[in-house]
Amino acid sequence: MAVSQKQKTVYICGECGCEHPKWNGQCAGCHSWNTLEEVKTRKTAPEGGFLTDGVRPAPVRELGEIDCGDDVRLDAGMGEFNRVLGGGLVKGSLVLLSGEPGIGKSTLLLQLCHTMRGKAALKILYVTGEESERQLKIRAERLGLISGGGGAALSGVYVAQSSDCLGAAAAIEQNAPDLVIVDSIQTMRINAVNSAQGSVAQVRECTNLLMAVAKSKEIPIFIIGHVNKDGGIAGPKVLEHIVDAVLYFEGDRQLSYRILRAVKNRFGSTNEIGVFEMRDKGLREVPNPSAMLLSGRPKGVSGISVLCTMEGTRPILAEVQALVAKSGFAVPRRVSNGFDYNRLCLILAVLEKRAGLFFGGLDVYINVIGGLRADEPAADLAVALALYSGTRDVAVPEDLAVFGEIGLGGEIRSVGNAVERVRECSRMGFSSCVIPKAALKQLDKRENYGIGIIGASNLGQMFNAVEKQEQK
Ligand code: TYD
Ligand code: MG
Repeated sequence: MAVSQKQKTVYICGECGCEHPKWNGQCAGCHSWNTLEEVKTRKTAPEGGFLTDGVRPAPVRELGEIDCGDDVRLDAGMGEFNRVLGGGLVKGSLVLLSGEPGIGKSTLLLQLCHTMRGKAALKILYVTGEESERQLKIRAERLGLISGGGGAALSGVYVAQSSDCLGAAAAIEQNAPDLVIVDSIQTMRINAVNSAQGSVAQVRECTNLLMAVAKSKEIPIFIIGHVNKDGGIAGPKVLEHIVDAVLYFEGDRQLSYRILRAVKNRFGSTNEIGVFEMRDKGLREVPNPSAMLLSGRPKGVSGISVLCTMEGTRPILAEVQALVAKSGFAVPRRVSNGFDYNRLCLILAVLEKRAGLFFGGLDVYINVIGGLRADEPAADLAVALALYSGTRDVAVPEDLAVFGEIGLGGEIRSVGNAVERVRECSRMGFSSCVIPKAALKQLDKRENYGIGIIGASNLGQMFNAVEKQEQK
């Protein structure tokens, strides 16, 4: 059977993974500069039909026949982590945890070793190409995972200090752990691949190898990947296509909150987020993010409102700030942090046209506090209210929350999950909330939500309702 072995050279962008036949200064896919790297590939398609000698057909089974067993998922021992993974870590899955350097990825996974071992007597292998064994031990001690000098609390966790990916794979085969952590993929290399450590080719080959190990041995593997803003190191974008799940660990390094977000998950939803807080003794779960995001809210300041957004199945309250200031530019600036820029422009236009507020010659700044991204249309109303309060310079009553989508006609449109949102507002001690009038239908009339609920069908009604609350 003739299999053509012709070698082909392609150029792959380290940022977006786009393939080019020729080298180019700029990637045609994502327009970033100097990101193309040479990768040699081999065409292995047989000439003629596939069903010939030398080619073994892959075994085929009916889906219903496959036995998964009951324990396909491992408990992460952290509620926030389980939530993001979709109910636990699936055996044999390859999960990429990416984030900026220093955000806390190594810390999170080291703590995961501890919490997972709290649920089951697992054998965990931590392959570190970044830190030395001793640094890892010191960190574990700092995190309080090892009691005294005995090291009893983290027994069952093994460390391999190596950047040789094949060696790591062999160690996995030899020791048969229940979970493997590779920190980080940029430090791994396969000697046979003729490319520098951290390059696209190396990162790709190492990930493919780890994927093969995870699938064949049914061992879940976490790989840590750094994202680099200037694209110097092969961005984990190339990896995202290969792995089963991609988790982003993000947050402002100056602030203590960290958000774990699934951007790809073959075994669960990508809507869920997990919230953590970086303390002096490592990361701590934040089961009640609303309280965290609302803490430190200034009182009696104009331009602030509270939104209620759904992150997956969880309602979260957060503060929106708007600042409207006289512009020194010919074209006034619109800056939006945590809220979609185009939606902000739309809301400004609706406020001008339908509510008589004018923003010409004024700079507008919007900020959603805590690094949260309010991508949902339900956040519209809070942004409009913050802008209204900011332009009038009158503070919104601090015990009032709002949610709803704004239409181009100035109408307030219904949004889903009204019951969950109203309950969250009530639980967080708000005494009233303005919601879309059409969403009142979703509420159970017999239930006492413990909060004043005002239905508004357009912006004018909402502003009237808020002013009435102000006078109280
Ligand atoms: P690290 O997990 O090393 O980041 P990554 O692996 O993503 O590069 O986290 C490093 C940062 O976390 C460091 O800047 C200090 C901070 N940190 C704490 O604030 N408290 C702690 O207990 C630990 C271990 C780290
Ligand atoms: Mg690290």
